[in-house]
Amino acid sequence: MEHKTVRDYIRTIPDFPHAGIMFRDVTTLFADARGMRLCIDQLLAPFAGLHIDAVAGLEARGFILGGAVAHQLGTGFVPIRKKGKLPGPTFAQDYVLEYGQATVEIHQDALAPGARVLLVDDLLATGGTAKAGIALLERLGCEVIGCAFVVDLPELGGQAALSELGVPIHTLCAFD
Ligand code: PRP
Ligand code: ADE
Repeated sequence: MEHKTVRDYIRTIPDFPHAGIMFRDVTTLFADARGMRLCIDQLLAPFAGLHIDAVAGLEARGFILGGAVAHQLGTGFVPIRKKGKLPGPTFAQDYVLEYGQATVEIHQDALAPGARVLLVDDLLATGGTAKAGIALLERLGCEVIGCAFVVDLPELGGQAALSELGVPIHTLCAFD
């Protein structure tokens, strides 16, 4: 296929990790050199001219994307991790997922108050993970200047859930 879009590189695995879930698998996008470059370029495009102090990424696939976006923007990278993984003092935030419940954490000293942060993840479903990430960054006194995702699952309402926070949302493609 000529001129494949970011969406074209993403494969769908039915019934993973549970029956009824159509899992949008970005590993096929990440594994392709052109797909990966296209994806990183498009993720940061709306934010490239803005002052950004740091990129934060949500575990796990947000680390892969966030590290590359941070490199491209010339900023540092801050991981928001699942509970129990970060070694220093943390702040924690519980959230609900499409198929479960979890807690994410950030190092209390990860960023200075007032830092302008771009939050990155692979996929927006219910918005619970991103909302928890924004809450943690705001608890540090940071300003979340935007959130960038490769995939949006509009039926799960993530954009609507985040809209009340007033943070600009950027997504590259959508799946029903
Ligand atoms: C997936 C995805 C997002 C989150 C989106 O991660 O990578 O982080 O779900 O869902 P939400 O918008 O409903 O919160 P998952 O929790 O499966 O964790 P993993 O990356 O560690 O596999
Ligand atoms: N995270 C939550 N829902 C998902 C889905 N359908 N595909 C991939 N990751 C997800």
